[in-house]
Amino acid sequence: MEIIIQPTTEAAAGIAARIIARLLRDKPDAVLGLATGSTPLPLYQALVAMNLDWSKVTTFNLDEYIGLPREHPQSYHSFMWENLFRQVNIAPENVHIPDGNAPDIPAFCASYENQIRAAGGIDLQVLGIGTDGHIGFNEPTSSLASRTRIKTLTPQTRKDNARFFGSEDSVPHHVITMGIGTIMEARLNLLLAFGPSKANAVAEAVEGPVTSINPASVLQMHPVVKVCLDEPAAGQLQRADYFRWVYENKPAWQAF
Ligand code: PGA
Repeated sequence: MEIIIQPTTEAAAGIAARIIARLLRDKPDAVLGLATGSTPLPLYQALVAMNLDWSKVTTFNLDEYIGLPREHPQSYHSFMWENLFRQVNIAPENVHIPDGNAPDIPAFCASYENQIRAAGGIDLQVLGIGTDGHIGFNEPTSSLASRTRIKTLTPQTRKDNARFFGSEDSVPHHVITMGIGTIMEARLNLLLAFGPSKANAVAEAVEGPVTSINPASVLQMHPVVKVCLDEPAAGQLQRADYFRWVYENKPAWQAF
C-alpha cells in the first residue's frame, strides 16, 4: 500500500485526481470504478476542473440503495449525475450504476458482474471507507471473496448516513454493493479518507491484521493500492512519519 498523507483534504483529493487524470491520458477508454458519499466530492470537483476527455471512459459504481426511486436526491444515480457525469463529456451508455429497483436483484447483481467482465475489468477503483471500515457497502464480516450482492447496512452506517436523509429512519436498510472479491479484481485501488472520524478505520485497515471486521484491511492483499489521506484521517497511523518520508522522497519517475 502506498500511503499519501497531505495537509489538507483538497491536496489529498488533488493527488487522487492526478492519478486518475494520468490514467485517462494513458488509456482514454479506461474503465473506472466510482464511489459516492462525501469523500469523493472534492475528487470529482478536481476532475471536473481538469477538463479531461471522458468520451471513451466506462464507469461502474460501487453501490446503490435498494428501493429508493432513481430520481430520489439521495440515490447514488442522482449523486453521480449531479456531482460528476453531468459536468463531463461521458457517454450515458457507458455509465453503470447498480439498479436498486431491479425486479430480480440477484439476477441484476450477476449481470453487473458480467458487464464489468465484458468491459475488460476495472482499471482503477475509487473507494471511500466507512467509520466501520466498510468499502463499497461491504460491512464488517462481509466475505472477503464476496461478489456483487444485496447487503444489509449496519446501524452504524445508517447513523453515519442519516445526515444525508434528514433522519436515521429514512435511510434504507438494504443496498446492492460490489463485493470485496469484485473490488479486489480492480487493477488499481485508490482509497480516500478525510477527517478524524475515519482515523481509526484507516489505522486498522493499513496497520492492523487482515480481517473481515475491517473490510478495507483486505486491501493489504492487493498489489496496487494508493491511499490518499488528509492529516486528520492519518491521525492514528503509527507509521505516519515513515509514510510522509516515503512520499516526499519519491524518485521523480514515480511521482504523480
Ligand atoms: P462518506 O462515506 O464518504 O460519506 O464518509 C464513506 C463510505 O461510507 O464509504
